[in-house]
Amino acid sequence: MRDQIETLRLCIEPFSCDDVAASFAWFSDPEVMRFIPTGPDQSMGESKQRLARYIEHQARHGFSKWIIRERLSGQAIGDSGLLVLEDLGKIDLGFRFARSHWGRGFATEAASAWVRAAFVDFDLDRLTAFAHPENLASLRVLQKLHFRSMGHDRVMGMDSLVFSLSAMEFQLLAGSPAAEAVHSRGLHKPR
Ligand SMILES: CC(C)(COP(=O)(O)OP(=O)(O)OC[C@H]1O[C@@H](n2cnc3c(N)ncnc32)[C@H](O)[C@@H]1OP(=O)(O)O)[C@@H](O)C(=O)NCCC(=O)NCCS
Repeated sequence: MRDQIETLRLCIEPFSCDDVAASFAWFSDPEVMRFIPTGPDQSMGESKQRLARYIEHQARHGFSKWIIRERLSGQAIGDSGLLVLEDLGKIDLGFRFARSHWGRGFATEAASAWVRAAFVDFDLDRLTAFAHPENLASLRVLQKLHFRSMGHDRVMGMDSLVFSLSAMEFQLLAGSPAAEAVHSRGLHKPR
């Protein structure tokens, strides 16, 4: 089973217990966690529990939220990945970066690599994603990845726009020049 994703600028791999201090930097930031249903972690202990849930999910499903490091510096800058939402029977794609690393195409780069991994490596049928209607950056990333809007819903208690992308749609996009983001193997092309 796949346990690392590399893109041009990013190395994405499963969390370990040693990542608590580094990831607390963004898990505890109210601005980063503004549109995350759980809100920010209030203590390092909460982040430790969060990572324990991700590590347990990884052992159970073979994928989870993974930590993202910049390849050049090795610095941990965010997390992204897939979580099974048991209650909804869906697999959710998520992405999150430390504020210092917003606006440089990293979310699109990481998320497009995860879309590819989901359909090619993990052989999933469908991905779901949700975002608060005011989370414009997140909505834009999902739009760039060609997720289809499925309307409003409440997800984990948060008013959300729900999105979906199927393996079939991903395959159909393969022939389309518009689908560069999802079919570029997550490689970022400087503009
Ligand atoms: C959402 C998030 C991951 C985006 O990360 P990022 O690396 O800055 O995203 P990218 O640079 O790949 O793409 C962002 C896109 O949104 C656009 N954007 C950013 N802020 C915007 C705004 N306020 N209004 C409209 N578009 C906006 C950018 O211009 C870019 O689009 P473009 O490439 O067409 O110019 C980051 O803001 C974040 O970590 N937010 C907090 C966590 C979060 O909310 N995660 C999503 C949960 S659903």
